[in-house]
Amino acid sequence: MTLAAFLAACDALRADAERDVQAAATLDEWTEVRNHLVGRKSGRLTQLMAHVPALTPDERRAAGQAINALKSGLDALLETRHTALSTSSRDGRPADLTLPARRVWKGARHPVSIVVDDIVAIFRKLGFTVALGPEVEWEWYNFGALNFPANHPAMDLHDTLYLKGDMLLRTHTSPVQVRTLQQYEPPIRILAPGNVYRHDMFDATHAPAFAQLEGMVVDEGVSFADLKATLSVFAKALFGETTRTRFIPSYFPFTEPSAQVEVSVDFNDGRGPRWIEIMGSGLMHPAVLEAVGLDSEKYTGWAFGMGPGRIAMARYGIADIRLLYDSDVRFLEQFA
Ligand code: PHE
Repeated sequence: MTLAAFLAACDALRADAERDVQAAATLDEWTEVRNHLVGRKSGRLTQLMAHVPALTPDERRAAGQAINALKSGLDALLETRHTALSTSSRDGRPADLTLPARRVWKGARHPVSIVVDDIVAIFRKLGFTVALGPEVEWEWYNFGALNFPANHPAMDLHDTLYLKGDMLLRTHTSPVQVRTLQQYEPPIRILAPGNVYRHDMFDATHAPAFAQLEGMVVDEGVSFADLKATLSVFAKALFGETTRTRFIPSYFPFTEPSAQVEVSVDFNDGRGPRWIEIMGSGLMHPAVLEAVGLDSEKYTGWAFGMGPGRIAMARYGIADIRLLYDSDVRFLEQFA
């Protein structure tokens, strides 16, 4: 072999290598290509070097330089391709190592559901059972049986969507009191969680649809003392042993006397305990018991209604009620 033929063979090997190394699509193919090109025993580079001893001493020096340059060129080609293959994704394109990691999704219960479940668990220990009623309700259950006189101003707070005839979206869970009394004999102790609807602006503190949780006790000899004691025990169980409770006179057509219940809650934010209003309550109005045919001389009862959404806001420091209804996972997954 002449020197010229030797140098041409070097160039040809280099050209083939550039094509074949790039064409290797997997690490296995890359190994094959490498063995073919630079394998110790029978690689093409080794075969080429076997011709060197036959050249003249001057030619050998030139051939040696060409072989060295070729060798480092092939090594560099192979190395680059190996790196690309070992960091690439399966479709052969290189992986982008600067991409942010994939998020891990955690399911979480909604804060209002957490609060409802906590409240139900506390009252269950006190002998209460969960009762449910429809969200589409008859006017009579929502107002009439609950002693709202027709056109009474108390109904202003309870404006809602009226459906066909005298049906409406219930404005509170109190109709479940009436439905339960129609179906069961005292003694009764129920809790009725559910959604209610009101013609309210959707702003930081109001929502046109929200959760309520009703409670009712009806038996012989039930008094305001039972109401106070039970709700005080409940407040301690929900907010902590040091929680105090106070009852502020209020008005509802279906309770008499009526009281707003406030609890002093220490949020451990350095500001000390604060009074927050958590529910409306009262002794059941005799007219409600009579509306379902119970003898109000024999039976008495008490009831309360609270907003688990507001309690969730207080407990978790949520400033805007709309967060509870936006279904924004960035908010919701904090409760996981
Ligand atoms: N239903 C009343 C409301 O929605 C709350 C309440 C329930 C008050 C039971 C007293 C007794 O405002």
